Amino acid sequence: MMKFRLLKCFLATMLIGIASVVSAETMWLSSLDLREMTTGWGVAKADREIVGGPLSIHGKKFDHGVGTHATSKFRVALNGNATRFTAEVGVDDSAGGQGSVEFIVMGDGKTLWASGVLRGGEAAKPVDVNLAGIQTLVLRVTDGGDGESNDHADWANAKIEMKEDAPVALPPYEVFKLKTRSFVVTFQVGDDGRLYQLPIGANDPTAKLSRDDEFYPQAGDGYVWEPALQVIHADGNTSTALLYDGLTRTKESAGMELTRVRLHDPAYPFEVTLCFRTHDAEDVIEEWTEIRHQESGPVTLKRMASTSLLLTTNVYLTHFFGDWAKEMINPITEPITPGTKVLDSKLGVRADQFQNPSFILSLNGKAAETNGEVLAGSLAWSGSFQCEFDDNGQGIRALCGVNPFASAYHLKPKQTFVTPMMIWTWSTQGLGDMSRKLHDWARDFGMRDGHQTRTVLLNNWEATGFEFDFNRIVSLFDPAKEMGVELFLLDDGWFGNKYPRVSDNAGLGDWQPNRQRFPNGLAPLAAEAVKRGLRFGIWMEPEMVNPNSELFHEHPDWVIRQPKRELELQRNQLVLDLTRPAVQDFEWKTIQSILSVPGITYAKWDCNRYLTQPGSPYLAPDRQSDLWIDYVQALYALMDKTAKTFPNTELMLCSGGGGRADYGALKYFQEFWPSDNTDPTIRVLMQWDYSYFFPVMAMASHVTHWGNRPMHFACSVAMSARFGMDLDLTKLPPRDKAICAGAINAYKRIRDVTTLGDLYRLEDPHEGFRGALDFVLPDRSRAVTFVFQLKEGQNMPVFPRGLDPGRRYTIHELNPDPGRAAMPEEGKTFTGEELMRTGIMPSCSQAVEACVVELDSTSGASSENK
Ligand code: GLA
Repeated sequence: MMKFRLLKCFLATMLIGIASVVSAETMWLSSLDLREMTTGWGVAKADREIVGGPLSIHGKKFDHGVGTHATSKFRVALNGNATRFTAEVGVDDSAGGQGSVEFIVMGDGKTLWASGVLRGGEAAKPVDVNLAGIQTLVLRVTDGGDGESNDHADWANAKIEMKEDAPVALPPYEVFKLKTRSFVVTFQVGDDGRLYQLPIGANDPTAKLSRDDEFYPQAGDGYVWEPALQVIHADGNTSTALLYDGLTRTKESAGMELTRVRLHDPAYPFEVTLCFRTHDAEDVIEEWTEIRHQESGPVTLKRMASTSLLLTTNVYLTHFFGDWAKEMINPITEPITPGTKVLDSKLGVRADQFQNPSFILSLNGKAAETNGEVLAGSLAWSGSFQCEFDDNGQGIRALCGVNPFASAYHLKPKQTFVTPMMIWTWSTQGLGDMSRKLHDWARDFGMRDGHQTRTVLLNNWEATGFEFDFNRIVSLFDPAKEMGVELFLLDDGWFGNKYPRVSDNAGLGDWQPNRQRFPNGLAPLAAEAVKRGLRFGIWMEPEMVNPNSELFHEHPDWVIRQPKRELELQRNQLVLDLTRPAVQDFEWKTIQSILSVPGITYAKWDCNRYLTQPGSPYLAPDRQSDLWIDYVQALYALMDKTAKTFPNTELMLCSGGGGRADYGALKYFQEFWPSDNTDPTIRVLMQWDYSYFFPVMAMASHVTHWGNRPMHFACSVAMSARFGMDLDLTKLPPRDKAICAGAINAYKRIRDVTTLGDLYRLEDPHEGFRGALDFVLPDRSRAVTFVFQLKEGQNMPVFPRGLDPGRRYTIHELNPDPGRAAMPEEGKTFTGEELMRTGIMPSCSQAVEACVVELDSTSGASSENK
C-alpha cells in the first residue's frame, strides 16, 4: 500500500536540506527544488501551471504537479533508491488549445518512456515508469518539433516512490571542476552524454556549450575540427564516440589530488580515462590519458593527445624555435589566429633540436613578467611531439601529445596505452609567478634531488677533446682541486679497443676502457680523483653505435634502419633499436658496467643524433610505426632502472646540446645540458628562456672559451645556473685563474640561494642592452642579483624583487672584476623596500661585463650605512 507522507517529507527536506534520509517514501515532484528545472520560458512552478494558474489538462484539474515550459530539463539524483515514477502529462489549458510538446523520462542516460507529441486540448497521458537501480533521473520536455511557442507543459500528479532516502534536484547539467589555488577548469556533461569543457577565459558558467566545446573530441562521429583521438577499431570503423561514465577523485597528499574521468564508446569495448593531477599551491595540473579496449584484435591509435584544453580567443602564444647551438634563444610571441598553428618535431629519439616542447599561452594580450593571465604548457616526452593550436574563430583548442606523424600505434586488447604527461601551470600574475610555481613543482616532481645544492664540476671536453690518457687526465686533478672544483667529469674518448674512440668516427658501442689509455680500466683513475677529494664522473652514449665498432660488426641488425636504403649516418653514428629486447639488455649491461666502477658518482648521458630512417628490423612489417613510441618507452624504462639502481649517481641529460630538455626524461636526471653553445652572451638569452619552464639548478652552465668573452663575464653567467667549467685550468693566465677561483668560491657561498631560492627575472636581455635576474631564499633572508651587460648602455640601477620590505640587507659584490671600480653602495645596508624602490647601481657599465651582488640580511649588519 502506498503511503503518502508528502508533507512530512517536504518539511524534512526543507529542514535538513537535500541530503535528507527518510524511510520508504513517496515524494511529489513539486516538493523538490524546482530552481534547478530549466524552462524555455518563465519559471517552473510547484502545483501551478507555468503562468501561475491551477494545473489543468483538457479540463481535468490537478492539485499537485509541476508546471513548466518547453524546452525543459530536470535532473534528479535517486542513487538507486527509487522504485517508480508516475504522473499525468499534457499541455496545460492555459495555452488556449495551442502548443505541442513531448515528455521524456530518462534514467542514467537511457530513455525509459516518451509520450510522443502531445498537443494543446488533448487529454493527459499517464506515465508509470520503473526506476529500480536508476542513479539519475532526467525529465525532459521537448518542443514537439515545431518551436516553443505556447508549450505550457504539466507534469501533473508527478511523484517518485523511494525505498529509502529522498530524491534530490541536481543542477541541470552534471558539472565538475578541476581546481587549484587560482585555476579552475570546468567540465559539463551534455544532454548527449558527451563531455564538454567551458573554455578557459570564458567566465560565463551558463554559456551554451556546442559540439565544438567537446573535451577530448574524437574523429569520425560528428566532430569536424582537429580531434584529440583518432582510432581505427578492430573491425575497421574509423569513428569513435565517447560518453561520460563518471569520475573518481583521490587525495594523494596535502594539496595534491588525482581525478580520473571515465569515458567509453557505447558501440565498442573501448575506454578512455582522462587523468588530471592537481597541485593546489603550485597551480599545476598534470594531465594524461589512458586508453584501453577489449576488441577482437588490435586497434590503431592514430591520434592520442595528452591534452585538448579549450581556451577563448584572444590568446597569444610564445614558443621557442632554434637549432643546434641556438636552442631557446629565439622566443616568438604571436597572436593565435583562425586556422591551425603547429609546433612539432619528428626526430624520434629526442623532442628537440628545432622546437622545444614547452610554450606559453597568454590571455588578453602578450604575456608580461609581473601581470596577466598566463598558462605554461610543457609536454613530458623525449620523442616526436606535436602541439597544435586550433582556432575555429569561436575558441582555441590546445592539443599536445605524441606526434601523429607516422606514429600510428597498434594497441592490443587489454593493454593500456598511457599518453605522455602534459604539465600546465597557471598564473594570474604574469610569467614570473608562473615560473616560480613551475619550478616549485619541478623540484618536487620533475627532476631528481630538486632540494639539494650542486657541486662545482670540471669537464675535460673543451680542454682535451679526444686527446688524453691516464696521466693527462690525472694532471688536471690537482689544479682543479686547488681551485675549489668538487667533481671531475671525463668526457668522450675513454673506450674502444679494436676501434679506439680517438675521434667521433669509431668506437661507440664498445664500452670497454681503452687499454692503451687506461691499462687498468677506469677504477684507478676514479681512485686518483677520489684520493684528492674530487668526485669522479663519466660520459656515455649508450643508445648509439658507430659502424666502426665490434658491436656493429657483430649485430648489424641491431640498429634502426630502413630496408633497401643505404645507412644514413649523423656524426658517423647510428641509433640502436631499443624495441629489441637484446638491445635493451645490452644497453642496461653497458650502463651497469660503467656506473658500477668504484668511485663513479656522476654520468653524462648523451644522444648525439636523431632518427632519419625510422625502421626497426625487430618489429614486424605491420608494426613499424610503433617504433616511435616503443623506443621512447623503452628508453624511459632504462633511465628509470638507472636512476633506481644508482640512486647516488648524479645524471646529466645531454643530446647534442638541448635535444632532451624536457620533463619526460628530466625526472630521471638531476640536470640537463641546455646547448653545446657556451658563449656566455648567448647563454644569458638561453638560460633566461629555459627558466620560464625549468629551475636554473637543472641547467648545466659551464665556463668555456666559446665566443672568447672576458673570463669574469663567462664565470658570472655560469654561476647563475648549475655551475661548471670546461677549461684547461693548467693553461689559464694567472688573472683568469684568479677570477675562476673567485667565482668558484662565490658560487659555493650563494649556491643555496640560486639553487633553492625563487627566481625573479628583472630585465629581459632580449629587449635591452643587458639582462638581470635575482634569486631570493624562501625565507627572504638572502638574495643574489645578477646583471649581465650585453651591449654598451647607460649605467643604471637594477631593481631587485621578492625581498622582504622590512628587512635590512647588506650589499656585497661577489668576485668583483679586478679591473673595475667597486660598486658605489658596496658594504652599505638598506631595507628591502628601499632596494626594490630605488634599485642598486651595479659595477658593470660596458659590454660583456657582469656584476653579481649578494644581499644578505643575516650577516649582523648594522642598520647604519657606513
Ligand atoms: C656532444 C656533447 C658534448 C661532448 C661531445 C662528446 O657533442 O654535447 O658536450 O660531450 O658530445 O663527443
